[in-house]
Amino acid sequence: MIMNPISRRAFHQKSIASLLTWSLLDTLFSRDAFAKEIKPIAAQWLAKLNAMSLDLKGKKLDPVEWQKQVEQLLSTVDLPEMLQFIDFEKLSQQAKPKERGELSLQAKLPQVEGLPTELVFGHQVFALNKDRSVVPHGHDNMATAFLILKGDFHGRHYDRLEDEKDFMIIKPTIDREFSPGDYSTVTDIKDNVHWFKSKSDGAFIFNIHVLSVKPGRTGRVYIDPAGEKISGDRLRCRKINHTEAETLYG
Ligand SMILES: [Fe+2]
Repeated sequence: MIMNPISRRAFHQKSIASLLTWSLLDTLFSRDAFAKEIKPIAAQWLAKLNAMSLDLKGKKLDPVEWQKQVEQLLSTVDLPEMLQFIDFEKLSQQAKPKERGELSLQAKLPQVEGLPTELVFGHQVFALNKDRSVVPHGHDNMATAFLILKGDFHGRHYDRLEDEKDFMIIKPTIDREFSPGDYSTVTDIKDNVHWFKSKSDGAFIFNIHVLSVKPGRTGRVYIDPAGEKISGDRLRCRKINHTEAETLYG
């Protein structure tokens, strides 16, 4: 077939256009298929976490049992899927970690079938640079969980055994390295105090927290874990304010 120059150009343009359309369709289709596959999985465990936390608040689930079940659930999380679910790439690019302490970022959870729109727990992503800490603190009337998303941490937990007006008596329970995919939990009963120091720049933790497990005051209580050693591996630690905690450990 002999084409004049104009129709040849038109033919090429048409071919390129169809190629572009097909490759665009292909990209869109596989992205969509990927998202459809991923979202329900991450949504599923967050929905389970929500159900457990509702049971905790409704006293149908004992706090230590909540910890056990949440840790069991966190052990099943596929981290790459989770990162995709919270659009971690975009979130982490915007993060400028603070001079001291942790920067709190809000991950937007996609609206997905099976995931309640009203969650009983709050969630945030902490961003930290090397040698910066989620400073040592206990919790009043709270249940929380940490899931390491990126970077390595030195993580410590303590049981909160007793409270005096200005002191807290604690006992170490966990003292180890935490890497991506590792997790830990907190309730009033077990491992109530925690302290996470980042070992790398650009380190991130996913945090969920159930406030006011029972009616009444809820929140953090900062302490200085460099307390007086007393019998039975216990430490008597000063309660401090947030500013001092950040100065000493942030
Ligand atoms: Fe905490």
